[in-house]
Amino acid sequence: MSTGHSELGYGTASPAMGPVHRPRRLRSSPIMRAHVRETHLHPSQLILPVFVREGATEPRPITAMPGVVQHSLDSLRRAAAEAVELGLGGIMIFGVPTTLDATGSGIVDDEGILNTALRAVRSEVGDDILVMADLCLDEFTDHGHCGVLDEQGRVDNDATLELYAQAAVAQARAGAHVLGPSGMMDGQVGVIRGALDRAGFIDVSVLAYSVKYASAFYGPFREAVDSTLTGDRKAYQMDPANRREALRELRLDLDEGADMVMVKPAMSYLDMVREVADHSTVPVSAYQISGEYSMIQAAAANGWIDRRAAIEESVLSIRRAGADTVLTYFAAELARWWREQNG
Ligand code: PBG
Repeated sequence: MSTGHSELGYGTASPAMGPVHRPRRLRSSPIMRAHVRETHLHPSQLILPVFVREGATEPRPITAMPGVVQHSLDSLRRAAAEAVELGLGGIMIFGVPTTLDATGSGIVDDEGILNTALRAVRSEVGDDILVMADLCLDEFTDHGHCGVLDEQGRVDNDATLELYAQAAVAQARAGAHVLGPSGMMDGQVGVIRGALDRAGFIDVSVLAYSVKYASAFYGPFREAVDSTLTGDRKAYQMDPANRREALRELRLDLDEGADMVMVKPAMSYLDMVREVADHSTVPVSAYQISGEYSMIQAAAANGWIDRRAAIEESVLSIRRAGADTVLTYFAAELARWWREQNG
């Protein structure tokens, strides 16, 4: 029977002798803390998202994301080579085209900026890092939505799927190892998998943005890709209020053949990272998105938080919540710090 003492942590000792259980012992020195640490961050778990702008001759800063740029093809190659040198697991490429149209045709064009960048990066890095492609129409459409519109101006799910299938094959042809469909169309993973397999790309993987919420924290990304979107994506991205629905999205993507799944955003959705990690049969990724990056940068720039400590804590927390891999704009910096510490 409980005496009440054990709940207070006194075990069987008398209160006068103090607690038997002293968790602080395991926190008493750096070596002890390192010895019992439950979660580790390694560069191979990190994916660096990058932007490349069509026609750019040099990198262009993104005001709302201090430290992040829209790359030229040359500076992108250098960033990719650096990512390899740092031992990062992957580099996720977003294209910023100069010409847009209603169907986002730039994404299927072999000469479009994203496919051109994929070829350039792949020829630079070979198989030394995973080259990943964002698979979504929003950067390429003149209305800024993730799919094509029907007569009523709504995103037409099934017409969009056909374009995703073509985009997938084009990206695989350009050398992507991993495709990241981020448009939240129903059935996108299955259609992409089928198109890849029919074209002979059986080894190209799909990292499905399975649980993607309609988040205010994407704000700075809109500048990063020169987005033309008016309105919102609430008719295809998930309602931040919903938990159960995430498990449905997860199950569908697993059934459709997702090789890896993602939760996005990460920091306001750590509960969902845990939930998905507990139910997934494939590796789980989480995306620390633009607004999450910019909040940390802004607070640090004001001297309100310790920048390095906050960055490391935020990404470690995402790992602790259950993410095997993390997409973060801090990836290269984290890897540099990791190297400093681990030699
Ligand atoms: C869609 C896409 C978005 C992001 C990644 N892929 C924007 C959106 O869904 O509105 C956001 C990434 C970030 O905010 O860092 N192609």
